[in-house]
Amino acid sequence: METKAIRVFLFALLLIAAPFLQVARGQSDSEVDTSETVEESSDLGIVGEDVQDFGDGNFSPAPGVDTICVFPKNSAKSVTAGEETELLVGLKNDGESSLNVIAIKASVHLPFDHNLLVQNLTAQTFNNGSVPASAQATFPYIFAVSKFLQPGTFDLVGTVYYEIDQQPYQSTFYNGTIEVVEAGAFLSIESVFLVTLGFALLVLLGLWIHGQIQHLSKVLKLICEIVLLLTHS
Ligand SMILES: *[C@@H]1O[C@H](CO)[C@@H](O)[C@H](O)[C@H]1NC(C)=O
Ligand SMILES: *[C@@H]1O[C@H](CO)[C@@H](O)[C@H](O)[C@H]1NC(C)=O
Ligand SMILES: *[C@@H]1O[C@H](CO)[C@@H](O)[C@H](O)[C@H]1NC(C)=O
Repeated sequence: METKAIRVFLFALLLIAAPFLQVARGQSDSEVDTSETVEESSDLGIVGEDVQDFGDGNFSPAPGVDTICVFPKNSAKSVTAGEETELLVGLKNDGESSLNVIAIKASVHLPFDHNLLVQNLTAQTFNNGSVPASAQATFPYIFAVSKFLQPGTFDLVGTVYYEIDQQPYQSTFYNGTIEVVEAGAFLSIESVFLVTLGFALLVLLGLWIHGQIQHLSKVLKLICEIVLLLTHS
């Protein structure tokens, strides 16, 4: 019975300590994330967000330029509200001259009516996004939808702006749905672990109480038998 009590105590201790461990892990995770983003940006010459005015004009796509859009490791195209999501824009230049990517921009719309703009997402500008003729290149676009956005299905329209021989062009690389989910909607491994631990603790407690009651009933039965014996004799 004593070893059981010690086990219960250890479980309780773990239960109390787990949230602190979780916080410490979360902090180190976000630190790693930022440094990675910075490194990636310097390679491609990303200037920043909304630094350069590339105009709000409506340009046409250049002939011979194909685009493709990939949500890495995220085939469900799920976007957590208020958190950064990365997508990759691939450009294939089958034209005669080299093209230069200026910026990537996107907006969120209501699926049933594209005139209803939900959010203009920040633009990412590039200062060295050249794609030579008959070559292809991939550009990252990191965006975050408003944390106040209701979870559900929205349409994302992504546009890449580029120049060929000083002429501006634009291509829509994505016009489709994304699934906006609430932050923390999915159980982390840590919380699953915690719930399991709590459940185990309850089961142990139940077993212990059950044992105590059985023990008690045995004692009561014994007393009853003694009393019966005494009264009969
Ligand atoms: C979004 O951007 C477009 C053009 O870039 C602009 O006309 C519109 O007013 C903006 N809307 C919001 C809500 O910021
Ligand atoms: C632009 O990128 C190319 C290769 O991607 C590199 O050779 C060149 O030095 C870069 N230019 C600048 C100004 O960063
Ligand atoms: C995106 O698709 C919707 C409906 O399929 C269409 O109404 C809208 O014009 C498209 N937008 C662009 C920029 O191509």
